[in-house]
Amino acid sequence: MRSHYCTHLSENDIDKEVVLCGWANSYRDHGGVIFIDLRDNSGLIQLVCDPKDSTNAHKIASSVRDEYVLKAIGKVRSRGEGLTNPKLKTGKIEIVVKELIIENPSEPLPFVIADPNVGEEIRLKYRFLDLRNPKSYETFKLRSKAAVAARNILDELGFLEVETPILTKATPEGARDYLVPSRIYNGEFYALPQSPQLFKQLLMCSGFDRYFQIAKCFRDEDLRADRQPEFTQIDVEMSFCEQDDILNAAETLLKNIFKACGHEITTPFPRMSFKDAMETYGSDKPDLRYDLSMVEVADLFLDSSNEIFANTAKDAKKNRIKALKVPKGDTFFSRKHLKELEDFVTKFGAKGLGYFQMKEDGLKGPLLKFMSEKSINELIKRVNLEIDDIVFFGAGAKKSVLDYMGRLRIEIANRLNLANPDEFNFLWVLDFEMFEVEEGKVKAMHHPFTMPKNIDAQDLEDITSIAHDVVLNGVELGGGSIRIHKKDIQEKVFKILGISKEEAEDKFSFLLDALKYGAPPHGGIAIGFDRLIMLLSKSESIRDVIAFPKTQRAQCPLTQAPSTVSIEQLRELGIKIRDKKENR
Ligand code: AMO
Repeated sequence: MRSHYCTHLSENDIDKEVVLCGWANSYRDHGGVIFIDLRDNSGLIQLVCDPKDSTNAHKIASSVRDEYVLKAIGKVRSRGEGLTNPKLKTGKIEIVVKELIIENPSEPLPFVIADPNVGEEIRLKYRFLDLRNPKSYETFKLRSKAAVAARNILDELGFLEVETPILTKATPEGARDYLVPSRIYNGEFYALPQSPQLFKQLLMCSGFDRYFQIAKCFRDEDLRADRQPEFTQIDVEMSFCEQDDILNAAETLLKNIFKACGHEITTPFPRMSFKDAMETYGSDKPDLRYDLSMVEVADLFLDSSNEIFANTAKDAKKNRIKALKVPKGDTFFSRKHLKELEDFVTKFGAKGLGYFQMKEDGLKGPLLKFMSEKSINELIKRVNLEIDDIVFFGAGAKKSVLDYMGRLRIEIANRLNLANPDEFNFLWVLDFEMFEVEEGKVKAMHHPFTMPKNIDAQDLEDITSIAHDVVLNGVELGGGSIRIHKKDIQEKVFKILGISKEEAEDKFSFLLDALKYGAPPHGGIAIGFDRLIMLLSKSESIRDVIAFPKTQRAQCPLTQAPSTVSIEQLRELGIKIRDKKENR
């Protein structure tokens, strides 16, 4: 239908007869001559419809409105001195239109595509229009490039692409499942996979050696800017490997993806233990584009005359007193700002926010009077305080202090614009705790098939796992581990997790069976593909990089999913909907 894409034309094509197709991006009537900016997926070019060249084309052009679908036949012409548009790739040329065909008119759009203030709900309802925004097209070009690069490099490294089922049984990632009722077996349900975890392990037991899949995963969890109920992973598993082999493969994968998208990244990535990440940055996914690190200072409060601080300092296992230094912070933060920061941390469980300011004439701050001179001097040394610095204190139960001080660190970095938006800062976080206790219940920090380093350790907190997370600019980009390939270790882990033999059999019998028949040592990783594209394209939300995403409330305004179904469908599935009130 077309001879060229709009922006593939240049001054080299002057006088060429061309056929172009696309949308009317805008039109202007300049005293009888009509100019239309024609848009296709490559960009824009100017059409000129002058009655001197074709009365018919000019007549048709006068009825064209925004987003009409057009086919234009004409000749490429130089715009001439002074009439060029440096903002357009094709700004030095234009098309003198001889014939104009309206392939399809368009009703006025429900919103202006280029207007950044249009609400997300309406954009998602008309997502097919929203995606006409050239920025979106660029994002999806990047996504496609990244997927091709991932496939190519994994193929080169000997990984086999295998698809695993979507209608399956609950998998162990720990979120709520999406369930699909069975028509044939009324009362029974498939679960959509939270990841291909168990299947990829089974493929290792089948001797496939190296597997990958660009896999759809489904998790019914609370949504955030970097979470969707339906998302994609680059999922990888390998046999007869050690943790380093997995980290190397993941670094090669990421290096190739970034290269295909125009960025050189440096490997190997730095590594940090989970414990150091938590103690120093209050997060298992610290953004290291900026320093801002925390130092433990509980011992300096042992002799404090403030009872709360002194008592907190006494139990070094359960509690923390952390100091977070902000270099030159005293020049940025007014009293009002300090109050705002205090309000910020109290939202996350802090009782208050102590601080010291290093002034020309020495240290100032409300906590000072509770400390001995010796402790103050030691603090200045330990935190390396210089004039104009501020140091913030968080004191209390370990988990809570690390959490709110970690959040404070990010809040301060955001306020002071400390993160370089053009940097890609990768980090491996290793040596995770195997278990965590939430509301009195023991849970696997990764999943129950992660290999522990020391399963027989006395204290649950001391059991670490051979797991790894890759972090990019403070976002958890991927995670994985070496897996348990021995039945006895698997049984011990289940026991600690309070999963009975019967429950394990019921849920994972197929995996436990596979472990009986010569399972090789194996491990892997999954990279969150949407998050990767979000960071690569510097998008604000994961929704920008998913063609048809769900809202924060897990709805699709475009298709209106989820929606009710007919009574007949429900009857076939053996399902009766309870009164909605009763459901609450
Ligand atoms: P995990 O649960 O850590 O590991 O997930 C791996 C990566 O997937 C991405 N991710 C998400 N992205 C968008 N929306 C979500 N709701 C969401 N949840 C997770 C993250 C995360 O780092 N089977 C294991 C992997 C393994 O052990 O090999 C797993 O799924 O970027």
